Amino acid sequence: MVDVTNVFLKKFVLAVCQAFELLSRRIHLHQQRVTIICLNLANRLKLSPANKTTLFYAGLMHDIGIFLARRKIDILNFDCEDILPHCEEAYSMLNRIELLCDAAVPIRYHHDNWSGPNESGLAKDKIPLLSQIIRLADRMEVLIRDDKGPAAQSTEILNKIKHHRGTWFNPQLVDALLELTGERVFWLTLTPEFTDSFLNEFAPEDTRKVTLDNMIEVASVFAQIVDYKSHYTKGHSVAVTSLSLKIGIAMRWSKSDLKRLWAAALLHDLGKLAIPNELLEKSGALTPQEYEIIKRHPYFGYVILNAIPAFDEIAEWTLFHHEHLNGKGYPFGVDTDNIPQGARIIAVADKYTALTEERTYHKRTSPEKALQVLEEEARQNVIDKKILDVLKNIVRKNIAYL
Ligand SMILES: [Fe+2]
Ligand SMILES: [Fe+2]
Ligand SMILES: [Fe+2]
Repeated sequence: MVDVTNVFLKKFVLAVCQAFELLSRRIHLHQQRVTIICLNLANRLKLSPANKTTLFYAGLMHDIGIFLARRKIDILNFDCEDILPHCEEAYSMLNRIELLCDAAVPIRYHHDNWSGPNESGLAKDKIPLLSQIIRLADRMEVLIRDDKGPAAQSTEILNKIKHHRGTWFNPQLVDALLELTGERVFWLTLTPEFTDSFLNEFAPEDTRKVTLDNMIEVASVFAQIVDYKSHYTKGHSVAVTSLSLKIGIAMRWSKSDLKRLWAAALLHDLGKLAIPNELLEKSGALTPQEYEIIKRHPYFGYVILNAIPAFDEIAEWTLFHHEHLNGKGYPFGVDTDNIPQGARIIAVADKYTALTEERTYHKRTSPEKALQVLEEEARQNVIDKKILDVLKNIVRKNIAYL
C-alpha cells in the first residue's frame, strides 16, 4: 500500500481526473488537450513555474462546472454562447479546495472575450493572463475533429482562430500560438491516443503532496457531481457519508480509518457517472439487461479509484458496497470472508439512505419501516447484523430527539 502521506498532488489530480472519462470521453479529451496547448503556450511565453503549475491544474479541470450547470451547454460548439454558468460553477467548486484554489480564478474568466465587454466587467489586460491562455487553447481544441489527424486540419483551425484575433483572443497570444503551430511536433502532441503520456511529460515540477484531508476535499467535489447527475440521487452520496461516519464513530474507528471511510463513502457511487440517466431514472422495473448495466457501477468506480495512489483500500470498500454476506450480491458475488468492514458499513448506510429517500421505484420509507426491511436482510445474511444494530441505535436516538 502507498503511504498516504507520500502522494504527489500532480499524480493524485491526474488520476482523479480520469473520472471525467466516465461522464464524457470527449470532454475528458478536451480538458486534457486544452492543458497540453496551454502548457505549450506557457513554455513559449516563458511563464513562471508557479504559473505553469496553476495552468496545468486549471486546464485539466476548466470545464468541471459543466457537470453541475443547470442548463445543458454545448461547450464543444465553437460559437456556443451563454456559456458563463459553468465558469462560475467551476470557480465555486475549486475555490474551496485548499491545494487547487489557485486554479479557480483563471477558470472563472476562461470564456471572457479579450476585447470585452464581459459580464465580469473585465477586458484586455484586466482579464487574468492564465484565463486568456485557457480561452485561446479551449476554442482551438474544440475545432479539432476526430475524423482526421490534428495536423491535417491546421489551416482550417488557424483561419478560425485568426478571425477572432483582437476580439475573442489577445492578439499577442494568437501570434505566439501561430509560431507554435509552425512546429510539427505541436500537432503531434494533440494526438488523442497519447494524451496521457504527453500530460505526464509536460506536467510542470510540483513537489507538493496531498494529505487525506486534501483527498477528502477533492472527493467531495466528485461526490457533488455524482449526486447532481440524476434528480433522484440528489444528496445521496453526502447522506451515505454522514451515516457511514456516524456508524464508524459509534464503532470506535480510529481517526485515520474514519477519514478513509469518509473518502470511500463520498465516492462509493463514482461509477454511476458511466450509467445512462435513462436507467438511473427509469420509473418501471429494470429489464435483466438494464440491471446488468447498473451492476457495473461499483467496478467502474473501483478502476478509477484504484489508480489513485494510496486509495487501494478506499477503492476496495467502494467495490464491495453491493456485495452480500451470503454471496448473492454484485459485482462478483463474493462471500463473507472477503467483504471488508468499510464496505459493510457503507452497504448498510447506503441501503438505509436509499430506503428513506424518494426514488423512481418507491416512495420515501419511514425510519422504523426501513429498519424492519434491513432486519429481514440481516436475517437473510445480506448485511452485517452487528452494523445494523449500531445503525438502529443511531436512528432511534435521532428519532427520540425529534
Ligand atoms: Fe469552458
Ligand atoms: Fe473547455
Ligand atoms: Fe451503489
